[in-house]
Amino acid sequence: MVNEPTIDLEVGAPVHGGHCLARHEGRIVFVRHALPGERVRVLLTEAGDKGYWRGDAVEVLDASADRVPSVWPAAGPGGVGGGELAHVRLPAQRLWKRDAVLDALHRIGKLTDHPALEGFTVEAVPGDDVRGGLGTRTRIELVADGEGRAGMFAARSHDVIPLTCMPLAAEPIRAAGLFERSWRPGSRLHAVAPSDGDVLVLADGDEVRGGRRKVRERVTLERTYDYRVAGAGFWQIHLGAPELLARAALAAAALEPGQRVLDLYSGAGLFTAPLADAVGEAGTVHAVEGDPQAVRDARRNAHGLPQVRLHEGQVAQVLAAVRPVADVVVLDPPRAGAGRRVMEQVLAGRPDRVVYVACDPAALARDIATARTIGYELESLRGFDLFPHTHHVECLAVLTPAAAP
Ligand SMILES: C[S@@+](CC[C@H](N)C(=O)[O-])C[C@H]1O[C@@H](n2cnc3c(N)ncnc32)[C@H](O)[C@@H]1O
Repeated sequence: MVNEPTIDLEVGAPVHGGHCLARHEGRIVFVRHALPGERVRVLLTEAGDKGYWRGDAVEVLDASADRVPSVWPAAGPGGVGGGELAHVRLPAQRLWKRDAVLDALHRIGKLTDHPALEGFTVEAVPGDDVRGGLGTRTRIELVADGEGRAGMFAARSHDVIPLTCMPLAAEPIRAAGLFERSWRPGSRLHAVAPSDGDVLVLADGDEVRGGRRKVRERVTLERTYDYRVAGAGFWQIHLGAPELLARAALAAAALEPGQRVLDLYSGAGLFTAPLADAVGEAGTVHAVEGDPQAVRDARRNAHGLPQVRLHEGQVAQVLAAVRPVADVVVLDPPRAGAGRRVMEQVLAGRPDRVVYVACDPAALARDIATARTIGYELESLRGFDLFPHTHHVECLAVLTPAAAP
């Protein structure tokens, strides 16, 4: 343990999680709220005997040119989690995320100087530079503190910090008065601003505003798709993400009429319906999703597309039971990634292409490493800044059979 509450450090490269790496007397310190190249005074938040420490930059001694006044000071040192890059110029946030993705792929995926990573960038959602990356989130979660004030959890803690605003939330949520009223202490609030319809607010699962538990989402690609989605169910959070990701996944899948597609971790069917259109009625799309409510919504959202087969269940179990054959596999697993078993199942059918949508670069790196041990290679990688002002980044990787040696 250290006795001093703060130490002064030179901060190095960003790593996944919103930290920069620094060193103190040979020990690694993960520093939040800093920028690469800065000298900062760090308040240690974890200084046990784990082999590394954690700390928050509480004073900047030598600032980076990419530092800006935080767009969300309540998410600064000692504040709520979820806005850990709010002090970084928006284009520099994307460079930060690019470096963090490449770091994960190098360290965990053992991909070094790989041709598919040449020129890799993290792309902005169209319009984000104009809106400063603010007002983009169509879903937010809040929690009421002991006095009934809406807030969020402090970083790496279950202490609730009350808030007066949430600048990352879409305008209809910000206008919903969530911070002006009193809630039952401890209640969990879920606010949704759908693309089609009014704001929905759920408190502990009960609707308090909006008069319904479902929302409608409209996504325009080659045609317009209308989706029914559970208010508390999964939907891409950034207001531009459903269209951007669906377009990117479709382009990466490069489908032809009559092909067979697997859509794994398919949610309410964001990708399922456009994939079905791309293969036409001569093709098939097997979609697999574990959340029964999402499967019910997907059933409705894929209505009129007889080429879609929906499977409710865990991906590994459904694949073991159904063994669908696919030319192309699209998978969009949760943060933990697909894992070795699912990657083996997916690749055992020797698909021509695998389109892997990933919200966690470390999990993606692990799954790519698995794929490379069983004869697949990374063909291309794109990154999307779907979570401005946070460390989160979305990636889309295409894997194809490795050329014979
Ligand atoms: C990142 S979301 C993607 C949903 C959809 N592709 C979209 O973009 O809207 C991941 C989905 O996987 C589902 N899921 C998580 N683990 C699963 C598992 N082991 N088997 C099946 N579905 C799972 C979740 O319920 C969630 O709907």
